[in-house]
Amino acid sequence: MPAVEIRNKIHWIGVNDHTTDLFEGLWPITQEGVSYNSYLVNDQKKAIIDLAKSIKVDEFFKRIAEIVNPSQVDYIILNHMEPDHTGVLRVLRKIAPQAKILCSPKAKDMIQAFYGITDQVQVVQDGEEVQLGELTLQFFMTPFVHWPETMMTFEKINRILFSCDAFGSYGALRGAIFDDECTDLEFYQKQALRYYANIVAKFSAQVLKAIEKLSGIPVDIIAPSHGLIWRKNPSIIIDLYKKWAEYAKIPGEPGITLLYATMYGNTEALMDSVAQGISQTGSSLEIFDVSRIHTSYILASLWSKSGVIIGAPTYENELFPSMAHVLDIAIRKGVQHKKVAYFGSYGWAGGALRELEKQLALLKWQMADTLVFQGGPSQEVLAQGKEFGRKFAEMVLSGMNSEKNG
Ligand code: FEO
Repeated sequence: MPAVEIRNKIHWIGVNDHTTDLFEGLWPITQEGVSYNSYLVNDQKKAIIDLAKSIKVDEFFKRIAEIVNPSQVDYIILNHMEPDHTGVLRVLRKIAPQAKILCSPKAKDMIQAFYGITDQVQVVQDGEEVQLGELTLQFFMTPFVHWPETMMTFEKINRILFSCDAFGSYGALRGAIFDDECTDLEFYQKQALRYYANIVAKFSAQVLKAIEKLSGIPVDIIAPSHGLIWRKNPSIIIDLYKKWAEYAKIPGEPGITLLYATMYGNTEALMDSVAQGISQTGSSLEIFDVSRIHTSYILASLWSKSGVIIGAPTYENELFPSMAHVLDIAIRKGVQHKKVAYFGSYGWAGGALRELEKQLALLKWQMADTLVFQGGPSQEVLAQGKEFGRKFAEMVLSGMNSEKNG
């Protein structure tokens, strides 16, 4: 994809990644891909805002060369040090050794640690401006959105906020780079939630602080470093991020994530009855076999829905390992304040619930109900499972109603 002009003198020069399987070595993007959006400001002084991972390096420099000679770049603005935005820094430094790297105070040492670069690194302070000619860049410190050194860059004439990870999403760009050209906004919104839950959620308090801090700035365009550029309705992605960040403090939206694992189909059989009971209430429901579906997708559901049902057998006197793994990741990511119910089978002795309760204490999830059975579920147990699902869903829905009314 060639460079794309966003507004006068400002161009997208990003890289689309369709070959990385695991973002951060953890989160699957084989199907969805991701973009590393980089931006070139071609004024009297030339500035590149955020770079790209070190893939398709030739393509990246070819794209710059469509607009300016890469050796003529005056400024390299690094909003964030993570290598998905700085991977080509050493190459750019060789091509344009005179270019000044502008970064936050905390990024300076990190540039040395990651790339051994110390020359021509200039720290900028919160609110500081750099005049490029007609256009002016202003820098805002937004720590921990995503790392401690993170900042954002605002171009004052065109009112474009280069927000780096904030307001980003998984999903390579598919021809359209702007929200108003995209025919599948739902895809990017869904991928933005998964990206938020995987990458940003842990720092939700800082996301809210950053949104509050930037609320007085007249932003016309949100240009993140992953996913679509929002020029028609930037408030869509700002409001979504604000809503998701607030889910760190409250249970989330009414609905149920049903997680299950099964060895020989007994817990799965009960899961079907539980799901039947839930569906009778009209509650929204997402079901995941935790042994088969990657935690990346599960986290998005857990983050946004207020209720969780866990169906897992006892395995060697403990919780089924793949379920324990998902809950461990949820602990690490700070998924809190959910209502939860547990069901599961055991062969000769229980034990799953005992381990689960330890994890729930760390998660601050509130246990509402349990249903444990030996071996395969009888007709009576299946009927109990349906009622168990129905009652839990009603409680989740009424809990949300009373929280709203309260
Ligand atoms: Fe897209 Fe935190 O890097």
